[in-house]
Amino acid sequence: MATAAKETIPEAIRNPLSVFDVKGRSYVVTGATGAIGRTCSILLAAQGANVTVTGGNKAELEELAQEIADLKKGKVEIVNKRPKTEVDCKAIMDVACDKHNGVDGLFVASGYNKAGFIHEMPQSDWEDVIDANLRQTWLICREYGRRAIAQQRGGKCVLMSSVRGRHGNISGYTAYCISKAGIDGLTHVLATEWAKHKITCNAIAPTVFRSKLTAWMYGDDELGQATKARSLSRIPLGRLGEPEDFVGILLYLLSPASNFTTGQVMYIDGGFTAG
Ligand SMILES: NC(=O)c1ccc[n+]([C@@H]2O[C@H](COP(=O)([O-])OP(=O)(O)OC[C@H]3O[C@@H](n4cnc5c(N)ncnc54)[C@H](OP(=O)(O)O)[C@@H]3O)[C@@H](O)[C@H]2O)c1
Repeated sequence: MATAAKETIPEAIRNPLSVFDVKGRSYVVTGATGAIGRTCSILLAAQGANVTVTGGNKAELEELAQEIADLKKGKVEIVNKRPKTEVDCKAIMDVACDKHNGVDGLFVASGYNKAGFIHEMPQSDWEDVIDANLRQTWLICREYGRRAIAQQRGGKCVLMSSVRGRHGNISGYTAYCISKAGIDGLTHVLATEWAKHKITCNAIAPTVFRSKLTAWMYGDDELGQATKARSLSRIPLGRLGEPEDFVGILLYLLSPASNFTTGQVMYIDGGFTAG
């Protein structure tokens, strides 16, 4: 009797860490030179996944690739491009598919912000932020979707939103907040559109964490200091984020562990949006 009961326990329950297994899978990371893109690339490779790291900064990509190679786990390829055009996106996915036998997941970690009050903001700043965060994300998702649908082996897509997709900010975030609200919408639409192909799409929405993007808040800049202090005052867990705070959620969303989770914007924010 006891033996029969044991045989009915699913593998995922008997061996729960098995659902986080990404070994041998192929992932593309955009903005891999950034704080969270770099974190994700290294953690995937450390788990034996093969990663295609992309971005505009060649020297930083090469440094990252060397660090990944030194781990002697998953393989790494570099594509020195941002996902700015259809041609760039095809080139990125071609490398992943040719060198790593297809593509199992995409993490869009590229992004940009330029704060400025709307009455002072040049249209070009608005366009730069929307371009980096929304248009380029849409473009690389389209190319990823084409490959993943053709492969017919499911997939994992993770986008970068922000608490600013839901909350305004008095520090001049008209472009940034709207770009991230757009990411939330894209997450919902892709989740529904891709569900029949067994491709999940979710987004991570952090509050402030340390990176090149937020370096202005960690320095002497008056508006930066005020922005950081205001964010901190609203975080129940009492601190800002660090890139390593996203390791658990990234592995969850990029592995089979999240196979029944799609269309979610997950607030990894120390409780910011709870209060
Ligand atoms: N840090 C935070 O507090 C925070 C909070 C919420 C959400 N986020 C989001 O998280 C994502 C990653 O940000 P991060 O904090 O890791 O920033 P980061 O360290 O600055 O990394 C972002 C990467 O994006 C690429 N990039 C910069 N400008 C770009 C542009 N105009 N077009 C395309 N790519 C560009 C850069 O790589 P290359 O120069 O190599 O191309 C850069 O390394 C972004 O979408 C950001 O909005 C960040």
